[in-house]
Amino acid sequence: MLIYMIPGGCRPLFYLLAMVLTLVSPHTLNHHEHQDHSEKERPKLLLVSFDGFRWDYIYRVPTPNFRSIMDEGVKVEFVENIYITKTYPNHYSMVTGLYAEMHGIVANEMYDPALNLSFSMETDSVYDSRWWEQAVPLWVTVQKDGGRSGAAMWPGSDVLIHGMFPTQYLQYNASVSFETRVQQIIEWFSAPKGEAVDFGILYWEEPDESGHNLGPQSPLMDAIIAGIDEKLGFLMNELKKSGLYEKVNLIVTSDHGMAQLSPEKIIELDQYLDRDLYTWVDKSPVVGILPKEGKFDEVYGLLADANPNLVVYRKDDIPEHFHYQHNVRIMPILLEAKEGWTIMQNRTGLFMLGNHGYNNTLRDMQPIFVARGPAFRQNYVKTSMRSVDLYPLMCHILAIRPLPNNGSLLNVQDLLSLEPTTSTPISTHFTVPPKIHRYSYAPVVGSFIGVVMVLGFLVVYVILVTLKQRPALKHRSWEMSQPLLQEDLHL
Ligand SMILES: *[C@@H]1O[C@H](CO)[C@@H](O)[C@H](O)[C@H]1NC(C)=O
Ligand SMILES: *[C@@H]1O[C@H](CO)[C@@H](O)[C@H](O)[C@H]1NC(C)=O
Ligand SMILES: *[C@@H]1O[C@H](CO)[C@@H](O)[C@H](O)[C@H]1NC(C)=O
Ligand SMILES: *[C@@H]1O[C@H](CO)[C@@H](O)[C@H](O)[C@H]1NC(C)=O
Ligand SMILES: *[C@@H]1O[C@H](CO)[C@@H](O)[C@H](O)[C@H]1NC(C)=O
Ligand SMILES: [Zn+2]
Repeated sequence: MLIYMIPGGCRPLFYLLAMVLTLVSPHTLNHHEHQDHSEKERPKLLLVSFDGFRWDYIYRVPTPNFRSIMDEGVKVEFVENIYITKTYPNHYSMVTGLYAEMHGIVANEMYDPALNLSFSMETDSVYDSRWWEQAVPLWVTVQKDGGRSGAAMWPGSDVLIHGMFPTQYLQYNASVSFETRVQQIIEWFSAPKGEAVDFGILYWEEPDESGHNLGPQSPLMDAIIAGIDEKLGFLMNELKKSGLYEKVNLIVTSDHGMAQLSPEKIIELDQYLDRDLYTWVDKSPVVGILPKEGKFDEVYGLLADANPNLVVYRKDDIPEHFHYQHNVRIMPILLEAKEGWTIMQNRTGLFMLGNHGYNNTLRDMQPIFVARGPAFRQNYVKTSMRSVDLYPLMCHILAIRPLPNNGSLLNVQDLLSLEPTTSTPISTHFTVPPKIHRYSYAPVVGSFIGVVMVLGFLVVYVILVTLKQRPALKHRSWEMSQPLLQEDLHL
């Protein structure tokens, strides 16, 4: 009855009031008191990466499952990932919120002069903890907070890092099907209270592999993309079958996009300098050059203006915006090909039709991002974010205090549902983070927020009713006022 007395434009506020009253009702308070003495019910989060799923793939073929996540949740159009736009650096940034120079996984293949060791994603060197311990991945932080995590083949998730593995994880094995990985994750999430994981991470190698082999422009990629959408559908269906779909916050994203290459666009280093002058580290299109002892000037001189499609940086001159400089694992000279070009020593060897690694501001290098679940708004499209902002967002959803990082929750806060949650909002300020008493103060905090919101509602209601006479404000909506809340305080 009351609702019919409220002008149309104010109905969202009415619902808010109703929600607040529910929150502070005696029943809710009792519920919270009981929770104090039992196992904490933590929010659930599943992060999924389809390797090399470029932002625009969903516009190429019908992708009904991606669409339904977008309709039920959020989508971000432009995700600026981190430089270099390769697999290992970006996957570690997603779970640490750090640029590659900070987390230390600066490439898929690395040389560390301090350790005198080489790393390659194709060898057992990935299992050497020392490569990973310049940062702490989110699963370790979740576990140190008393939570549980489950990892299905996420890069680094089967490595002992700071003395921990994920609570549940699979040893990396590319032959294990997507469906098996999903079923394993579902099983971990569905375990009895006290054993179920709170944070899951799931990795799949496609469409990266096909993108490299076929080139992103190939019409054959259409079927590959449709196949990924089916895989996503399988995951959604399994979540539904096990009753997790409405409980779990699901984020589906990727590490990078893919650029079309051409055998006409090859830069042959052998044409410019002798192989004896340097050591080659990593792979095209961004290659580290370690000049032999005393040969730096000679090597730099020979390469600097060698080829118009080759950008050559001294380590000290790598542009600030790449945040790719301050780490011993970044070589004294860095080569970057222009988009579509391939750096090789000579023309023999493997040539791919698609690749990534280039400038992270290039649209072709950027990944997809969609998410849904209780923490997220519905049917909301955001223009842009940085992939380092994902980490503070995930920490917020999991009610975990974030470690120092390069992201900002304020940049992505508008993705979150406006409904009050049981967890206290957490500042991304990392200098003196407050200790969070997550549940014991919940009823008090809830009542306080409730009272403030009721008062706020009344004030806003009175203002809106007063202003309603003014035609200019007639179509003002709750949504439109959102950007005002998103001021970047630069954390
Ligand atoms: C680095 O390790 C290699 C063996 O992998 C060894 O031959 C070389 O002498 C070492 N260099 C230094 C500076 O210790
Ligand atoms: C990898 O998985 C495949 C398929 O499940 C299995 O046949 C194979 O034995 C596994 N390899 C290892 C090393 O575990
Ligand atoms: C290219 O380099 C390989 C060694 O990586 C060498 O065996 C081959 O002869 C070279 N080809 C040409 C055409 O120089
Ligand atoms: C990377 O791209 C940005 C804009 O897209 C451009 O300003 C910058 O010069 C590029 N850097 C390199 C090294 O290509
Ligand atoms: C990234 O975050 C780390 C940890 O807070 C900080 O030390 C570093 O200065 C940040 N880098 C940039 C470029 O802001
Ligand atoms: Zn990748």
